[in-house]
Amino acid sequence: MNSRFYITTPIYYVNAEPHLGHAYSTVVADVQNRFHRLIGQETFFLTGTDEHGDKIVQAAERMGLSPKEYTDEISKKFRDTWPLLDVRPDRFIRTTDPEHIKTVQMVLQKVYDKGDIEFREYEGLYCFGCERFLIERELEDGMCPDHKTKPTRLKEKNYFFLMSKYQDWLIDHIRSNPGFIQPERYRNEVLSFLKEPLEDLCISRPVSRLTWGVPLPFDKDFVTYVWFDALINYLTGLDYPDGERFQKFWPVANHVIAKDILKPHGIYWPIMLHAIGLKPYESLHVHGYWKIKEEKMSKSLGNIVRPGWLVENFGSDATRYCLMREMSFGLDASFSYDGFVTRINADLANDLGNLFSRSTTMLHKFRKGTVPNETGMEGPQDELRKAFSALVPTWKELMNGFQVHNALSEIWKVLNMANKVIDTTAPWKLAKDESKQVFLDDVLYCLMETLRLSAVLISPVMPRASEKIINSMGLDPDVEFSENGLKWGRLNQGLFIKKVPPLFPRIGPSRKEAKENIKKKREDIKKEKDVSMDSKDKKDGLITIEDFQKVDLRVAQIVSAQKHPNADRLLQLTVKAPEERTIVAGIAEHFSPDSLVGKKVIIVSNLKPVKLRGVTSQGMLLVAKDEAGLHLLEVDPETEPGAKVS
Ligand code: MSP
Repeated sequence: MNSRFYITTPIYYVNAEPHLGHAYSTVVADVQNRFHRLIGQETFFLTGTDEHGDKIVQAAERMGLSPKEYTDEISKKFRDTWPLLDVRPDRFIRTTDPEHIKTVQMVLQKVYDKGDIEFREYEGLYCFGCERFLIERELEDGMCPDHKTKPTRLKEKNYFFLMSKYQDWLIDHIRSNPGFIQPERYRNEVLSFLKEPLEDLCISRPVSRLTWGVPLPFDKDFVTYVWFDALINYLTGLDYPDGERFQKFWPVANHVIAKDILKPHGIYWPIMLHAIGLKPYESLHVHGYWKIKEEKMSKSLGNIVRPGWLVENFGSDATRYCLMREMSFGLDASFSYDGFVTRINADLANDLGNLFSRSTTMLHKFRKGTVPNETGMEGPQDELRKAFSALVPTWKELMNGFQVHNALSEIWKVLNMANKVIDTTAPWKLAKDESKQVFLDDVLYCLMETLRLSAVLISPVMPRASEKIINSMGLDPDVEFSENGLKWGRLNQGLFIKKVPPLFPRIGPSRKEAKENIKKKREDIKKEKDVSMDSKDKKDGLITIEDFQKVDLRVAQIVSAQKHPNADRLLQLTVKAPEERTIVAGIAEHFSPDSLVGKKVIIVSNLKPVKLRGVTSQGMLLVAKDEAGLHLLEVDPETEPGAKVS
């Protein structure tokens, strides 16, 4: 095995904000990065944004911004999204970075000097979405299959990269390196595409039509076409040509992409690398599409799910878990809110969460929270010991092959086995039987060691939960999340295991179910009311208009929000209504402080101030509560802060 590993994501176009599709590729790369680090390799993880081209100029124009202002803004959104998902790249690259522009020009000059770039006239069908000329047989009903738009006929003189002369070399390279493009279906797809003669690649745009690009070093009237610019990011990211990183990591380059950009990565890129005298990347890992109701999720189709929204609803670990578990790498998958909730409740709250809380509760009840002696007895718990000796190598192999969904399913088989061990050995019965104490020791030991080792195995996917488990055992995650941590039997007798709150609280019913529940409840209440109205005291619970007028409701804008210094459940808000005041609200479990800032809400403004855990609250925030949780009562953003609500 190599001692190093280099992983990249596509660099994303900044004509759209990040969505679940981008998040998937990026989390895949992060999981790989963490996994390879865990097994002792030195790793480098690169992501970033692709910022040149017509599409970006058009998007900037629509927003009334210059391309630079626009790309700064959207690129920042990508950069700021990844920490929400605990994605930790080593470098975030932008194609507008000066060092990248320098590298692209250097590569262009090299290929030009070699005689692999030629100036010619070309007429063809251009898709602005793909930013390339399409050939007839790629069209579906005359339309671009990805963007569902009709391509435009264009004729112009341009520079061409003479790809066709390397076609045979590429076929040979793919055939003699089985792991070069994975999974195999995409390798076959590229090979079948290569059965037809390759066309040379148009790599320029005249500046009369596009200035937002990297100028060709050998002709100032042209900028380079996006793919020649974009793909080179994988080299710039390693400080090619002179950087130490390049020497260390280029031989172990692994790219993650979705099938939409298979051709540039499976054909253009290896040929470009070969032309400049570099060995092609080690492997290309191609995944399918996230779809919503059978349509690919994409900005142009307007059916996107924001990563931030997923994290707000499910948390980072559960979102990462669902992304990895719900998509078989290489195939398409469908996103549904209910699907994620079901997965989280079943796998995380029930299987893993319950195993952890049941095991620690029993350990506290029967052994004062300390790890007993592993007595190595026969019994159902012994199956756990055996299971791990098979699971660890399987896990390694599956993770290595980007089969994270299968790796997780193998881990879950053992977690379920552990839950069954509890049911069949019934430790609460063993505890009452003096003669079974040595056996009970072994059962409890095996359960706790199963949890520790599972935490190590899931750590690339769920870094937070696994850290919580390891920390509760008083162990050091940095030590456990390593090759050493993969060995059974590291929990020492006498170690105290802390009890911690549930790792994954159950998520309430889905929105749809919640709505149905609410409807049903309302009908029940109405029925009850109808009965009571008919009976004696009709006025019960009713107030007069004068009573209502005592309450002064105002529109307030939230200026800042932060966690209360002394209470986990409280947030401290500064609102404008129209004068600034502080409100302390018990909503910390439902809203992140950042999500509230700027929102216009309704407050009760004439409440007597009260001190809540040391902070004076001058009013009360109104929210709505249903079975799905709390909802902010937002008002029309046009409303002035301080407006009276009547
Ligand atoms: N800028 C180019 C890539 C250049 S790489 C040298 C580009 N950008 S993109 O913003 O369109 O990103 C495409 C990539 O985003 C896909 O290859 C995939 O990684 C991810 N996805 C975008 N939509 C997706 C889905 N609906 N499903 C899965 N992945 C998706 O192409």
